[in-house]
Amino acid sequence: MSLLSLREVTRTVIPPDQPALTILSGVDLTIDAGDHVSIVGRSGSGKSTLLNMLGLLDLPTSGEITFDDRPVKTYSAAKRDRLRGAAIGFVFQQFNLLPGRTALENVTMPLLYSTGRTFWRRRRIAAEMLELVGLGHRLSSLPDRLSGGEQQRVAIARSLVRGPRLILADEPTGALDLDTGQSVMDLIDDVATRTGAAQVTITHDPMIARRARRHFRLERGVLTPVDDPSLEPLTRRNRRETAPDAEANGAAATDDALADLGFADLSTPATTSAPSDRTVD
Ligand SMILES: Nc1ncnc2c1ncn2[C@@H]1O[C@H](COP(=O)(O)OP(=O)(O)OP(=O)(O)O)[C@@H](O)[C@H]1O
Ligand SMILES: [Mg+2]
Repeated sequence: MSLLSLREVTRTVIPPDQPALTILSGVDLTIDAGDHVSIVGRSGSGKSTLLNMLGLLDLPTSGEITFDDRPVKTYSAAKRDRLRGAAIGFVFQQFNLLPGRTALENVTMPLLYSTGRTFWRRRRIAAEMLELVGLGHRLSSLPDRLSGGEQQRVAIARSLVRGPRLILADEPTGALDLDTGQSVMDLIDDVATRTGAAQVTITHDPMIARRARRHFRLERGVLTPVDDPSLEPLTRRNRRETAPDAEANGAAATDDALADLGFADLSTPATTSAPSDRTVD
């Protein structure tokens, strides 16, 4: 059973007074539980459009998307929203934190939409998640008091706080310097490995892409598997050459904290079930 599958997915838009524009063309991609996929592509190749499909934010113009082997198009918008909220975590280049809210309030936010959790329980889960990303000492900090790397850690805590089965990252290190970017990726990899979440990372950076198990390139809306993204030409420098501004301490996740957060059984890493050399179906 696959977690998420795209078959012959096409996305066409018709801009006002312009001919139809095909952004994605015949995309086939199957993501299994615990899978780790990277997608590289030039600016404008359709990466974010594809991510919106994977995140059930948009439906394809043609082709089929299934989640847990059930066709997503049969779901109402409200049901898709619920499924997305419960099963998918997004990490973006722009951290998208609410500016007037503390780190703790930002991470608590997604829990407001899940039922059965009291105020104090939500607070405790969010605080534990921030602890997990190495920010237990910054619970009441506002985003503008945090470094870029710390803000991204808060954003990651927020995207993982409901224990998603799929983590979708669109240029997650795009606004970070090299070292901070690596430590942020270590953190996402660590949590994903421990929880069995699948990861799809969209990036311009071949070294980030290399961390995945399977690699793809998107070119003018066509997705093709590639062997080694570091051998692909660099499409854009996306590293700021600033001094590292955050300590790489967030990867110090503990099994206890994860278990407390309601993640799946952590005694057996779920990634063992993930295929190592799959290609596009
Ligand atoms: N709703 C829309 N209407 C018209 N054109 C669109 C629409 N959405 C996307 N496009 C165009 O489709 C192409 C792909 O966009 P997309 O945002 O997916 O690219 P991308 O690969 O994520 O680029 P970047 O690396 O710059 O973020 C672009 O040329 C964009 O202008
Ligand atoms: Mg984009």
